[in-house]
Amino acid sequence: MSSLPEKKNDQLTAAWQSPSNIALIKYWGKHGRQLPRNASISFTLSEARTQTSVQLTPIEHTEEIELSLYFEGQRHQGFENRTKNYFQELSTLFFPWLKEHSIRIDTSNTFPHSSGIASSASGMSALALCLCELDAKLRNAETDHESFLKRASLISRLGSGSACRSTYALLALWGTHESVPSSSDMYAIGLGDELHPVFRNYHDDILIVSDREKSVSSSAGHQLMENNVYASARYNQAQERLTAMLQALREGNLQAFVKMTEEEALTLHALMMCSSPSYTLMTPETLNVIQHIQNYRRETGIPVCFTLDAGPNVHILYPNEVAPQVSSLIQDHLLPMCSGARIIRDKVGSGPCPVAR
Ligand code: DP6
Repeated sequence: MSSLPEKKNDQLTAAWQSPSNIALIKYWGKHGRQLPRNASISFTLSEARTQTSVQLTPIEHTEEIELSLYFEGQRHQGFENRTKNYFQELSTLFFPWLKEHSIRIDTSNTFPHSSGIASSASGMSALALCLCELDAKLRNAETDHESFLKRASLISRLGSGSACRSTYALLALWGTHESVPSSSDMYAIGLGDELHPVFRNYHDDILIVSDREKSVSSSAGHQLMENNVYASARYNQAQERLTAMLQALREGNLQAFVKMTEEEALTLHALMMCSSPSYTLMTPETLNVIQHIQNYRRETGIPVCFTLDAGPNVHILYPNEVAPQVSSLIQDHLLPMCSGARIIRDKVGSGPCPVAR
């Protein structure tokens, strides 16, 4: 672990920054306590990050978690209630000391709050990293960096499934998969060392087509997979695609990467449309943009492609060497297609880091 919590008048503080991630093979469907129905794999991002500090002040044991949470400087009741429930569970499973401290959390995002970008992955992983650092300090436990990250990934997963992949640099895999013996449903593992150089500085420009709140949350979407008639075929498909995706990521096979990434994004949204009740999160602008990207690729041979998460915004993925051409495509064609759209320029990144105080 690279930093120790600061101790002041018996107060302990830990602070971390953690990034968002974008799944290439998607986690969609879960069971039990945040366990995935299939393995997923993601690029860790660089710019879309959450910074969180957790400060503990010792108190007498309490049954209720004593917590205040400030989001971008303002007390935030919604996040506070969600975090209290999460801490209540963690206090029984891992961290009994949560009930022996008054807790203050300060958290903020480096990307605009209303951007429609999922902040649960960066937010939950930053929080879990703080908790694991504080726990090591309180128990005087020496842990190696790998075990620390694995534990932080497991704690993140209990907050939000996709968050468990954010604890690793470059590339992370979550979910048991036959081709990766160390993989687990309990936590993600880092596969950054295996990533081909062409993907190490890959771009992900996020076109914010709409920043309106989603009509169906991810949690509700996962739930609807339980009665989706295509569910079991989908889970098998994801396991198979993951083998092929991993090979493309290791070999730097852009053609295979582009094909699978887009198929996977459209499969995710097809599953939503095939749920009962059915729903659609793509908008006409989303479709216009993705068709334009596909036509452009066909005409120019430039290996730019898209992926989607559970919303209308389009992640535009491409290698660094075609950045000038794709930048013109976005400015001249894609942005004008969506009124009020914005772009967040991101890249594959090096993972979380402790914040110096
Ligand atoms: C479409 O991780 O947000 O982004 O576990 O209920 O918090 P919860 O769901 P969440 O689901 C993310 C789904 C996805 C695909 C992915 O990131 O793999």
